[in-house]
Amino acid sequence: MIIKAEQITKSYQTGSGKLEVLKGVDLSISEGEIVSVMGPSGCGKSTLLNILGILDRLDSGDLWIENKKVSDLSDRDISQLRNKYIGFVFQFHHLLPEFSVIENLMIPQLIKGVNEDKAKDRCMKLLEVVDLYNRYDHNPAELSGGERQRVAVLRALVNHPRLVLADEPTGNLDIESGLKIIDLIKQMRDRDNNSFLIATHNPDVAVHCDRHLKFKDGILVSG
Ligand SMILES: Nc1ncnc2c1ncn2[C@@H]1O[C@H](COP(=O)(O)OP(=O)(O)O)[C@@H](O)[C@H]1O
Ligand SMILES: [Mg+2]
Repeated sequence: MIIKAEQITKSYQTGSGKLEVLKGVDLSISEGEIVSVMGPSGCGKSTLLNILGILDRLDSGDLWIENKKVSDLSDRDISQLRNKYIGFVFQFHHLLPEFSVIENLMIPQLIKGVNEDKAKDRCMKLLEVVDLYNRYDHNPAELSGGERQRVAVLRALVNHPRLVLADEPTGNLDIESGLKIIDLIKQMRDRDNNSFLIATHNPDVAVHCDRHLKFKDGILVSG
């Protein structure tokens, strides 16, 4: 099991009192699975992904990543675990505007200590896979929305995360570009056997995943 969550709860303190968002979420994802999580805006998809990616703290419940219980780990172990195993894709791409496509892709690898030639070589190969080879020296502003999102997905994948958490990765794209993102995700999964959890409110995207979950009153049910 890549990730397992048991009875996760999370609430926010707001001006009008306590807002219970997650009310006992159970979830487990195996190696190589692509799972969608659907639900209307405001139901808690981003909250859940942030907790699963250990970017935010849960109130109660248990979380295991790669069979390690997160509550038993030190902060340092947690950041190592996150860096090593988890990749994030956000709705808005968060590519660095001052850098070219290839540089955006190389940065996570350079940070990890991969040498520059090797990083570049590997990133150019990835760009070839998604038909963006001839865009390598463009800045993000010089790409279409769909192309930017494909680069953002690649960037989440360059360091081979075992688990990718994607928060509405196709949210601002037309259907065709959205399906290209899903194709890319499947292609990467087939190659690396990594796992994906994709929050989406696009049924056209969800239907291409291996398994579907949806939010119902603060918990997840099979969709
Ligand atoms: N930091 C926060 N403080 C207070 N309320 C929040 C906070 N973050 C999210 N919420 C509320 O929690 C609910 C779930 O939000 P979110 O997880 O972003 O939903 P989704 O991603 O499904 O649209 C929403 O009602 C939102 O307004
Ligand atoms: Mg959200």
